[in-house]
Amino acid sequence: MFESMPSLPADPILGLTVACRADTNPNKVDLGVGVYKNEAGVTPVLKAVKQAEAQYDASEASKAYLPAQGTEGFLAQVNDLVFGEGHSAVAAGRVATIQGTGGCGSLRVAAELIKRANSHAKIWISDPSWPNHASLLGSSGLDLAFYPYYDRDQQAIAFDQMMAALANTGPGDVVLVHACCHNPSGADLTTEQWQQLTDLALARGFTPFIDMAYQGFGDGLAIDAQGIRYMADKLPEVVVANSFSKNFGLYRERVGTISIVAQTASQADVVKGQMLNVARAIYSMPPSHGAAIVETILSNPELKSMWLSELDEMRDRILHLRQSLVKAIANTGCERDFSFIERQKGMFSFVGITPSQVEELKTAYSIYMVDSSRINICGLSSSNVAYVADAIASVVSK
Ligand code: LMR
Repeated sequence: MFESMPSLPADPILGLTVACRADTNPNKVDLGVGVYKNEAGVTPVLKAVKQAEAQYDASEASKAYLPAQGTEGFLAQVNDLVFGEGHSAVAAGRVATIQGTGGCGSLRVAAELIKRANSHAKIWISDPSWPNHASLLGSSGLDLAFYPYYDRDQQAIAFDQMMAALANTGPGDVVLVHACCHNPSGADLTTEQWQQLTDLALARGFTPFIDMAYQGFGDGLAIDAQGIRYMADKLPEVVVANSFSKNFGLYRERVGTISIVAQTASQADVVKGQMLNVARAIYSMPPSHGAAIVETILSNPELKSMWLSELDEMRDRILHLRQSLVKAIANTGCERDFSFIERQKGMFSFVGITPSQVEELKTAYSIYMVDSSRINICGLSSSNVAYVADAIASVVSK
């Protein structure tokens, strides 16, 4: 049965980790996969997580299955974090939230739900986007379309083109938007742009589907969720996939959530039942550990403030690294302006170089990044930023 299957190339993002690990150059730099790293190049377990784990381990009384939607305590904390305390849609019972398995699992369950609700729905994805969006959402059998998002000449959002493309949508369409820290460009919608997009959703009748994988990594927890909060208030329906991989550093625990904002509380109940039925047919029940840690931290004021300061520290470090890289490239005398990197948000930016220059950085300098020239800013450190800056300046100056 399997003999005729073709072998596939390595994943364009995950394959970089493998390639970099095998590289023996002591100066190698991994700017590939999006995981936070500290100054020592380590993805640490947060202190708040360690303490919550100790507390939770001591109190865990059973390994029986979790409720299929996750625990009520976890879901209440998540609704406050994502929508903000006392949000009108949550208070009205219009929000159905269930635990998911990381951001990917949550996106996939949401896609299967959309497919059930409307098998002809078309999902519009930003061009560019995280490559796995098309795989995850397309695998559910939904039609995909793409809207322009990033202007590579201006290194900024192509908002007018985006709005012009989305003006062609209608009620059967779903528009995937990144809540914050756009992956791969780092270019985020402003408050006014979120409002204009909301007006367009009302006018055209499309359903926004917001993917939030980096809450707290851009401007802070509230601003990073502003699009979700605003749209959930103004629109009849919104789909949200949320991940705790990055902001709690719980990557391998696979914890996230899916929230559907429905028109009424009774529709939200129906949708919740449908989501649980989708999940039952894929993985049945969610894993416990990651969600228990998130719940323990968010419901304990001391642990929560420890987590908030660790989150601030991660965000500040990213900002500092962005500034250092821009400065270090300018210090080489390079004529090209890279200051856009300082204005962008979150873990990623495009350097704005060609695939052959990306290849040259890899072969000549052992600097690894995605072919699109997306870099994970967190792979930089004070010890390699000058090396990376020199290498970039050298390939662009040829
Ligand atoms: C990334 O974009 O590098 C991360 O979201 C990790 C992944 O799964 O691709």
